[in-house]
Amino acid sequence: MTDLNTFSAVVAGTGAYLPEKILTNRELEKTLDTSDAWITERTGIRERRIAANEETSSSMAAEAGKQALQAGGVSPEKVDLIIVATSSPDVLFPSTACFVQNKLQAFNSAAYDISAVCSGFIFGLSIAEQYLKTGRYENILLIGSEVNSRIVDWSDRHTCILFGDGAGALLLKRVAQKKKSAAGILSTHIYSDGRLSDLIWVPGGIGKTGINKQDMVDKKYCIKMSGNATFKVAVKRMAEVIQEALEFNDISTDEVGILIPHQANERIIRVVAERLKFPMEKILMNIHKYGNTSAASIPIGIDEAKRNGRIQSGETSVLAAVGAGLTWGAAVIRW
Ligand code: UT7
Repeated sequence: MTDLNTFSAVVAGTGAYLPEKILTNRELEKTLDTSDAWITERTGIRERRIAANEETSSSMAAEAGKQALQAGGVSPEKVDLIIVATSSPDVLFPSTACFVQNKLQAFNSAAYDISAVCSGFIFGLSIAEQYLKTGRYENILLIGSEVNSRIVDWSDRHTCILFGDGAGALLLKRVAQKKKSAAGILSTHIYSDGRLSDLIWVPGGIGKTGINKQDMVDKKYCIKMSGNATFKVAVKRMAEVIQEALEFNDISTDEVGILIPHQANERIIRVVAERLKFPMEKILMNIHKYGNTSAASIPIGIDEAKRNGRIQSGETSVLAAVGAGLTWGAAVIRW
């Protein structure tokens, strides 16, 4: 077995891209039976970003990726692997990551997508961690990118108010581990439960039924969600997996600099914080600006926290997400 204590997987650069167009709750009031007050109170969301016609998951991912490479001082040809976590890919195939590779001209890399929806970034981090800690690769660009606005049913007030578009990226780098407390990914923890696959899903089956007119009429190519059931399981799994990650690393909430949770609903985050006795001041919250950007929400949060000085060298951060699948996971990073 490879000794995973030889190398660390450090975050060498971060980046994010948010489309310019802002869609406010007030604007949604004009087309939907909803209100700014309901959305704000039940979700914490005030506005979200919407991709322009020419923007796609790959174009936003490439912008975020470019920033992460620049921040890390790594040129595109030095990238060994590009992983894109997305559930709104440009096309069914090839992967969005291959389009990103072309846009970045990172032609020495392998590139592929992973599908774990809102947990996609944590799942991607767990993959990158293995490649870097085993010494297989030196530079990995991990990106979460979504154009949720293209896969929501804009007449369904239960779902369309929740989602937004955007991308976030991390450049992860292999470094020789000097001591046990060195900076880097300390651990990742990922889980799935396929019995809950219809809690949040896009039921239109491309491989199952072929693309067909009736599914289009029934909006089966759009996100469907059982909100209440998802809420309950999201709280339970997120609290559980954060607890596991803390115990695995033998750290207390006091020793965590910042918790960056997936931004699905402010109330979910508040309940989790209460259960774990995690002070809200130590939790990154940007759902009011961007809504739920699925796989992009955690890297967008990391980039924001870095830029705002909320992450300092030597500090420990916890990341956590729950998403369709059901999938859930957490990661602990030391900076
Ligand atoms: O990222 C992946 C993970 N995703 C999540 O974790 C999302 C989890 N779920 C949620 O965040 C919440 O369940 C929602 C925000 C989706 C819904 O909030 P809720 O407090 O669970 O509301 P509800 O579904 O129980 O609906 C309460 C009422 C209903 O009215 P009736 O049927 O009781 O008369 C809804 O029809 O609120 C109504 N409602 C709305 N009213 C105004 C639902 N959506 C809206 C809306 N505007 N947009």
